Amino acid sequence: MGARAGALLLALLLARAPLGKPEPQEANLLSGPCGQRTIPPRVVGGEDSVLGRWPWQGSLRLWDSHTCGASLLNRRWVLTAAHCFEQSTDPFSWSVQFGELTSMPSFWNLQAYYNRYQVERIYLSPKFVGSVSYDIAMVKLSTSVVYSNHIQPICLLASTLEFENRTDCWVTGWGAIAEDKPLPSPYTLQEVQVAIINTSMCNHLYKRSDFHMNIWGDMVCAGDPQGGKDACFGDSGGPLVCDKAGRWYQVGIVSWGIGCGRPNRPGVYTNVSQHFRWIQKQMTQSGMPRPDPSLPLLLLSLLWAPRLLQLEA
Ligand SMILES: *[C@@H]1O[C@H](CO)[C@@H](O)[C@H](O)[C@H]1NC(C)=O
Ligand SMILES: *[C@@H]1O[C@H](CO)[C@@H](O)[C@H](O)[C@H]1NC(C)=O
Ligand SMILES: *[C@@H]1O[C@H](CO)[C@@H](O)[C@H](O)[C@H]1NC(C)=O
Repeated sequence: MGARAGALLLALLLARAPLGKPEPQEANLLSGPCGQRTIPPRVVGGEDSVLGRWPWQGSLRLWDSHTCGASLLNRRWVLTAAHCFEQSTDPFSWSVQFGELTSMPSFWNLQAYYNRYQVERIYLSPKFVGSVSYDIAMVKLSTSVVYSNHIQPICLLASTLEFENRTDCWVTGWGAIAEDKPLPSPYTLQEVQVAIINTSMCNHLYKRSDFHMNIWGDMVCAGDPQGGKDACFGDSGGPLVCDKAGRWYQVGIVSWGIGCGRPNRPGVYTNVSQHFRWIQKQMTQSGMPRPDPSLPLLLLSLLWAPRLLQLEA
């Protein structure tokens, strides 16, 4: 079993410096336009993606080196896997890049500098203890993301039960293309169509393997029973998405698996809707205005302190 992180690529580019003003209010965080793309899909079967086809896909970067996938929820918030932060939980060392087809843009690509956003804070699931469950984290960006044809947020749902039998969902990322094959230059985003595999079937498959793991509601399995269609190292934190009536919804976060693309070893994803309320809570609590240091407000801030500290745990 391998956790699917790993710094694969090195780059010497500097992350985007924090510019612009923070947004005052962040109500209605999960409503509003999301999950839409203007770039039409192309023939299924190709592996390289097309710019703008997955406009919510981000590259989570440690010292500007691609480390994990991520997805854009709104202008300030990004969803990823908790295990991506094994190497560092210092926000300053992280940035997220959007709107680029490659995880390693050319040094001369000025647009790529503007498409890179510094991280302000990292929120790991408080229940994440370094193992395979509760593998979810949220990232608050220092500045607001500028939307474009190539940068759009993904939708979330409180329940993704309606996608349980879908065979046409997609996982995307810049991870390895096989267990022993890192993504080659020019590091183009990869896409693969996968089927959602229900929990009873997934448990059955994993029970027969040398490694026994209990798959439960916090996890979603997806892949192809024949193997060959899967996420791999470096894809961690990236989105598993399904569409409905022209809109795209995130169902899972790339989390773990046994090898990559092996027969009867589907990829295991964090069940996003299982954490829907936690996601909402981080956004609303963090969006609260900071109190001024006048006396009644100082008391208020003291009352707030334990909860804010708890969130950082
Ligand atoms: C999925 O398939 C199961 C078993 O065939 C069925 O009971 C269930 O209603 C289906 N779910 C949806 C959303 O179609
Ligand atoms: C789970 O999937 C398997 C294989 O696709 C199917 O035979 C079974 O009926 C499904 N079970 C449920 C509860 O949907
Ligand atoms: C994911 O969580 C949602 C919400 O709790 C639940 O409805 C759904 O059945 C779960 N998915 C799986 C595959 O367990």
